[in-house]
Amino acid sequence: MALIGTDLEKAISLLNADRLVSIPTETVYGLAGNALSEKAVLKIYEAKERPRFNPLIIHVSHIDRLKGLVAEIPETAKVIIEKFWPGPLTLLLPKTDLVPDIITAGSPYVAVRIPKHPLTLALLEKLDYPLAAPSANPSGYVSPTTAQHVQDQLGEKIEYILNGGTCEVGIESTIIGFPSEKDVRVYRLGGIALEDLQAYVQGELMVNTKAVQNTDAPGMLESHYAPTVKLIIGEPNNLNYERIGALRFSTYHPEIPRDKQIILSKNGSLKEAALNLFASLRLLDTLGVNTVYGEYVPDYGLGKAINDRLRRASF
Ligand code: TXA
Ligand code: MG
Repeated sequence: MALIGTDLEKAISLLNADRLVSIPTETVYGLAGNALSEKAVLKIYEAKERPRFNPLIIHVSHIDRLKGLVAEIPETAKVIIEKFWPGPLTLLLPKTDLVPDIITAGSPYVAVRIPKHPLTLALLEKLDYPLAAPSANPSGYVSPTTAQHVQDQLGEKIEYILNGGTCEVGIESTIIGFPSEKDVRVYRLGGIALEDLQAYVQGELMVNTKAVQNTDAPGMLESHYAPTVKLIIGEPNNLNYERIGALRFSTYHPEIPRDKQIILSKNGSLKEAALNLFASLRLLDTLGVNTVYGEYVPDYGLGKAINDRLRRASF
């Protein structure tokens, strides 16, 4: 079992020794190691059983800390950074030689973000290297939004979990890149809605989140975020309602017993639904059913990212 606590000094001494620490962010908990140490980064891939072709996001506390890590920041990126950092947005920027190839899986672009969580920002501020941190879940499973989620799944593999409470956003960062000076391409839907991003993009906002391996966003594998029970998006077609569960946006399914149903937001709030999504996917495994019928949420704002995760969870 890992220790759970708020001791920054303990986290620092582990990280300085190339060991791993789980860190809270506003999106999900990360599994962090020294991004400039290949030894630490290898441990991250091992602990998650993550394929090496799926690169990692680097976390820093301040834009000044990107100096030396990225070769340049396009003007469009600067405007976006100004508006959305710290926050649930990750930028793909050209990397320097200082960033180990193992971080980017060989890509010339490195993914970077400033997370919005006071404990992790304080930690990053005290370290003299950035942290590489994928979501702190075994590869393919649901991302953790509490320290206990991390403990449940990776507790045997890491020593320390910095406890920052429940993640405020609950869904991973939106990932964007800059194919030209003015255009922006979205590689992963996430905590910043497209509508909000659009206002800060002069050129075209393109969305390219389809699964592609070994190309621009190798991590966007189709099957992801999967609970153990079978999740089907759609109406149940057998009438044996005692044996099935439901994952719903804001209202109960009329036929299925209520104790076998999970509602993402009784108020019909997409923000609340995002916040509850991953914990709800975990709960599906405790309902005592083998099939859960889910429904998509309204497809705008954070709803797009929620629907993306629901689709992948049901794959
Ligand atoms: O909200 C988040 O982004 C969380 C917290 C911990 O910061 N992190 C996270 O990391 O979701 P992870 O590793 O679970 O997902 C990162 C995604 C993957 O799909 C990966 O393929 C993509 O980012 N990615 C990372 N570096 C990349 C790169 N250089 N080029 C393209 N995609 C990259
Ligand atoms: Mg992940």
